[in-house]
Amino acid sequence: MKVIVAVVPSDKLNDVKNALLEVKVGKITVTHVIGCGAQAGKIEDDQGNPTGGELMGRVRFEIAVNDDYVKPTVEAIIKGARTGHIGDGKIFIVPLEECIRIRTGESGRMAIG
Ligand SMILES: Nc1ncnc2c1ncn2[C@@H]1O[C@H](COP(=O)(O)OP(=O)(O)OP(=O)(O)O)[C@@H](O)[C@H]1O
Ligand SMILES: [Mg+2]
Repeated sequence: MKVIVAVVPSDKLNDVKNALLEVKVGKITVTHVIGCGAQAGKIEDDQGNPTGGELMGRVRFEIAVNDDYVKPTVEAIIKGARTGHIGDGKIFIVPLEECIRIRTGESGRMAIG
């Protein structure tokens, strides 16, 4: 099991969500966050002096999946978010030790799927 965490521009929320639904990934958590990426330290002010990077609004998807769903989930996120320009976002794949459905007490594959 893995947790796929994806941070993408806020205006890609619906495109990513729809791409996930197309591959039958429908259990998602979305949080509005702020952040900056690789370009943050390179921002200059009007006088050309380096400044701290602005933290931009983003959306953060958290999706817990069984291992066989990692690839289609990642591909769907990329399909929904990629423009080819800087700032398209980033995907983190994190090992998940356990998942428990509170209502039934199910755990593991049954709880995630
Ligand atoms: N290493 C990281 N750790 C935590 N959050 C990150 C990291 N890299 C990116 N992010 C988050 O993802 C968002 C989008 O990142 P972004 O697409 O700008 O990555 P990048 O590495 O700068 O790539 P690019 O050069 O394509 O812009 C950032 O605003 C930040 O919230
Ligand atoms: Mg960037």
